[in-house]
Amino acid sequence: MSAFNLKSSLSKIGAGILLAATAVIASPSAMAAGGGGCGTYTNADGENVTLECSHAPIDLTNKGSLQRGAAMFMNYCVGCHSAQYVRHSRIAQDLDIPPELVEKYLLVTSDQIGDHITAQIDPDTQAAWFGAAPPDLSLVNRLRGDDWVYTYLLSFYEDPSRPWGANNLVLANAAMPHVLHNLQKELGQEEYEARVGDLVNFMAWMAEPVRHERKIYGAFVLLFLLALLIPVYLLNKEFWKDVK
Ligand code: HEC
Repeated sequence: MSAFNLKSSLSKIGAGILLAATAVIASPSAMAAGGGGCGTYTNADGENVTLECSHAPIDLTNKGSLQRGAAMFMNYCVGCHSAQYVRHSRIAQDLDIPPELVEKYLLVTSDQIGDHITAQIDPDTQAAWFGAAPPDLSLVNRLRGDDWVYTYLLSFYEDPSRPWGANNLVLANAAMPHVLHNLQKELGQEEYEARVGDLVNFMAWMAEPVRHERKIYGAFVLLFLLALLIPVYLLNKEFWKDVK
């Protein structure tokens, strides 16, 4: 009887830990999968091709990459897009950029370092210009997945039939112009992809600044639960030892 109970309670604890572990390990990939791949397009032969997402080089511990990404975001994106949940001061703090430098180089659309990132041009005006309002980008990496955003930014192609001369494989007939076109020509493909990787890395940080810490805490919680298993097991043995 006691052996049976011990076994069942142990297996319940074990199952709980396993479930927690799966949740922690699987969460980022499950999130990306929520985006539903990178779409389909029709190629020159009229065949429908499924576009595989490219893997975004996300590493929130790489401060250099995050800093380069922040500079790119402030230079190329905030003309149209806001990031309403992100303050410039948080960029300074988390990315180890001296506040003076943030004030000098990254305060593009406001003059207070405590301000949120706002778009230079009002989204409603832009909706009239582009046919679609540029969405706020604070959380886009969580909504679409890092790989989607990375693939999207790398999937602009020339299309003279579009108003801005460019189209996108991931988001067909996107209202967004290929704003990195000159950079792409200037840098060459390899270097360009690395810079877009930095940009998407920064956007991943924006969407969840504590993502790296969350994983560390998760590992500690699991270790704690594993360690807790030992006294719980011994206690269980003690409680049931006289019940035969
Ligand atoms: C000239 C204005 C403009 C600039 C500059 C611009 N965008 Fe956009 N962006 C748009 C518009 C408009 C849309 C909406 C596209 C649509 O829905 O067809 C968009 C859409 C997007 C989307 C898709 C969002 C979604 O979930 O549908 C992403 C991601 C994005 N932009 C990222 C960027 C990044 C990163 C930069 C800087 C490199 C940037 N954009 C610069 C106008 C702009």
